Formats: sequence, C-alpha cells, structure tokens
Amino acid sequence: MGKLMAKLQSQYVCQSCGYISPRWIGKCPNCNQWNTFIEEAPKPVKASRKSAVPTRFEPVSFGQIEAQQVPRVKVGLDEFDRVLGGGIVPGSLILLGGDPGIGKSTLMLQVAVLLANSSILYVTGEESVQQLKLRAERLHAENAKNILLLAETNLDIILDILERTPPDILVIDSIQTMYRPGLESAPGSVSQVRESTALLLRFAKTKQVPVFLIGHVTKEGVIAGPRIIEHMVDTVLQFEGEAHYSYRILRALKNRFGSTNEIGIFEMRETGLHEVKNPSEIFLSERHYGTSGSTVVASIEGTRPILVEVQALVTPTSYGLPQRNSTGYDFRRLSLLLAVLEKRVGMNLGQYDVFVNIAGGLKIIEPAVDLGVAVSIASSLRDVPVDSTSVAVGELGLSGEIRTISHIEKRIQEAAKLGFKKIVVPQNNMRGLKQNGDIEIVPVERIERAIEILLE
Ligand code: TYD
Ligand code: MG
Repeated sequence: MGKLMAKLQSQYVCQSCGYISPRWIGKCPNCNQWNTFIEEAPKPVKASRKSAVPTRFEPVSFGQIEAQQVPRVKVGLDEFDRVLGGGIVPGSLILLGGDPGIGKSTLMLQVAVLLANSSILYVTGEESVQQLKLRAERLHAENAKNILLLAETNLDIILDILERTPPDILVIDSIQTMYRPGLESAPGSVSQVRESTALLLRFAKTKQVPVFLIGHVTKEGVIAGPRIIEHMVDTVLQFEGEAHYSYRILRALKNRFGSTNEIGIFEMRETGLHEVKNPSEIFLSERHYGTSGSTVVASIEGTRPILVEVQALVTPTSYGLPQRNSTGYDFRRLSLLLAVLEKRVGMNLGQYDVFVNIAGGLKIIEPAVDLGVAVSIASSLRDVPVDSTSVAVGELGLSGEIRTISHIEKRIQEAAKLGFKKIVVPQNNMRGLKQNGDIEIVPVERIERAIEILLE
C-alpha cells in the first residue's frame, strides 16, 4: 500500500518532450536532452472542473456535411495572413513560438490593434499592464479601444472571465506562465502547460474563438514546454531572427488550415514590426560591388523567390587547423562543397580558413544556393570578384555536376525584375525554358564552367 502511494505521488517528467520516468534520469531516452527531468505530481484522475461534454454532436457521414469554405478573419497584415494560410480561422488554436525578445508580444499586439472591429482579450502573465501600455505607446496604439488587458496567470480565473464575456479573439502571453491551482506542479512544467492548453483548446472549439498562445523557446531550436503541445494546436508559428539583424521571419511549422511553406518577413524598428514586401531589394541593399567572395543567388522561400547575397572569405590559416565556419548555410553541406572544390576543381583549400555567410541573417536550407556558395569560395580564394550583374542557381553534386532545381522560372523572373543581366542555371533545367529579352539565361553542366563564366 505504501509503495502504491509513493508511486502515485511522484513521477519524473522531461520538460522538453514530456517523457515520463518513474525515477530521475540525467538524459532523456526520448529526446536526448540532458537534465530535463523534474519531479511532478501525477495528474489527478478526477479533474475538479465540471466536464462540459457537448451532447449535440452525433456521428455523420461525408454526405451529410455541407461543403463550406473556411471563413477567415483577415488581419490586414499581409505577411502574417499569408503564413496563416489567408487569415485567422475561427476556433483555431495557434501557438506562436520564438526566442525571448524576438518580438512575439509586439507582433500579437500589432495584430490585435489591426483587428479594430473585433474585441480582443490580451492576457499577460509576463508583464504588467503598465508595461503593455508602454509598448502600445511605441506602436502608437495606446488608444485602441477593442483591446482589453488582463494581467493574470491563474487559469481558473481567466476561464471564468472567458465564460462570462467571451472575446472575439484571445491572446495568452505566455502559455508557460499559466497555471491551474488544482495541480501541484509549478507553472511552466509539462503537466501545467498541457492542462492549460487542453482547457484553452476546449474554449476555442466550443466558443469558436481563435486563441493565440505565445510560447518561449528556451534551448537552441527546441520549444521546451510549448513543444509538447504542438500536437494539440492547429497551427504552430515560429518567429525567428538573428540578434544582430532587425529582420524577423515568421514561419508555419504546422498548419491544419494552410501550407507550411510560406514565410512572412518583418523588420523590427523603433515603431514596431514593419512588413518587408520586397525582400530581395532589402537583402541586396548592402552589397559591395567589386569585392571578391560575393555571389547573388535566387532562393525560394515558400512560394516567393528571394534574391540574397552569399559571402565567402577564404584566408590562409595562420595557426593550427584550418577553420570552417558557416552562418545561414548548412555546415555539413559546406564541408561537402569544399571537398568537391578540392577534388573536381583542383582548389587547394587545405591551408585556408573558409567562412561562409548568407547576408541579412537569412537561413537557407534549399540546395539551390550551393552553386552560389561554391562560386563565392572560388572568387575569394582567387581574389577575383564575381560579375555583379549575374545571379547563380544550382545544386552541386558530388562529381562536380550542377543538378536540376525547382521553380526555375520564378527565380529567373525575380532576377530579371531586379535588373540582373545574366543568370547561370543548371543545364538540365533548360528543357522548356525560353530565353526572354530581359535576362540572359546561361546553362552550365559543371562547376568549373560556372566559375569560369562568373568570375570576371
Ligand atoms: P517583445 O515583443 O517584447 O519580445 P518577446 O515577446 O518575443 O519576448 O520585443 C522585445 C524587443 O523588441 C525589445 O528588445 C525591444 C524591441 N522593440 C523594438 O525594437 N521596437 C518596438 O517598437 C518594440 C515594441 C519593441
Ligand atoms: Mg513577450
């Protein structure tokens, strides 16, 4: 009996993924994080709150369901609406994750201000209402009448208010600060976050009110806490950016109501977040002409082409092992490119440090920028600038061949639109492509040839 009681009383829960262990362990066998286990009381079998099971629902066949377009509330902030899939869906539960200080609260406040015809309840568990007012003043939004603020973290109180006066849209800032007094574990722990989300989910679905949950990312790339509710919410948005740049990128990591490819780009200024509608122009605006190691590539983010500058710096190694460093571009892919350049082009990079950087703080995962990275490295090594009126796109294969990429027309169009005169593309992409008057399309098969064409 005593044993059984002890079992019921405590368990250890990984705060990163929610894995449960009967005893404390250092490394989580599920998500491999270290030191993430915290003792928590198991969830009481009987929840104190009266269960509100709706009885009006019955099973239906497809035939009985009337097809209807999902009605959406457009915020009027295009970069935000597009990432959501065209606006806010009623009754949807949306998680907005990101590093502390990246601008999540600012974004949600701006969204709230734009929805002037809807009543918004902004629940803050992180800041006082005075702090919120200061932020609103920066955004020139302190007179927004549609927003009600509530500094509260006790979810029972919040649910009570929601019951009495449900808003049109609810913002919870942040889900990690919310707690139910009935549960023994601390706010931010797995059981509190899960329970709070479950209750807010029920509110969203029964009242058809969209709910935004703000969640902090605490470790490198891991939404700890919020990560364990990703499967419960309809949409997971991530707000990201580099500390030293003012650009912020909004991505959908999951979206039951839209694609996950779109990104929204914002710039954080003194007066809040501003939409970046012409990203190529911005990302190229600081380009230096005539210096070696810089190539313009046409990348596709979601459905949008974006031109960015890939920079490389190759310098003789002065002590010890040669350094390799990459910002915004996959490090392993860089090692691979260096090997290809050594073996297939005969470049001797063994005695050189190599640094690669995607300008503007963007992160690019697609391999279509390989060619640009390789050409920048060659340009820096030889100290010969790349033709500044050219753009390069193509994936690099292990034998030095340039491989086919997707969305070639869009990339070419964007390059032409921004006044570039030439674009180097993979030979195999030429099928069905026509030369147009604005930009010369130069097909290449191998990396050596691309370097020859692009270095002045
Ligand atoms: P905030 O929205 O509080 O971030 P989060 O909620 O993700 O923690 O934004 C914090 C940062 O944004 C802070 O460093 C100040 C900066 N900021 C601006 O640069 N301009 C502005 O107009 C506002 C409101 C904030
Ligand atoms: Mg905040």
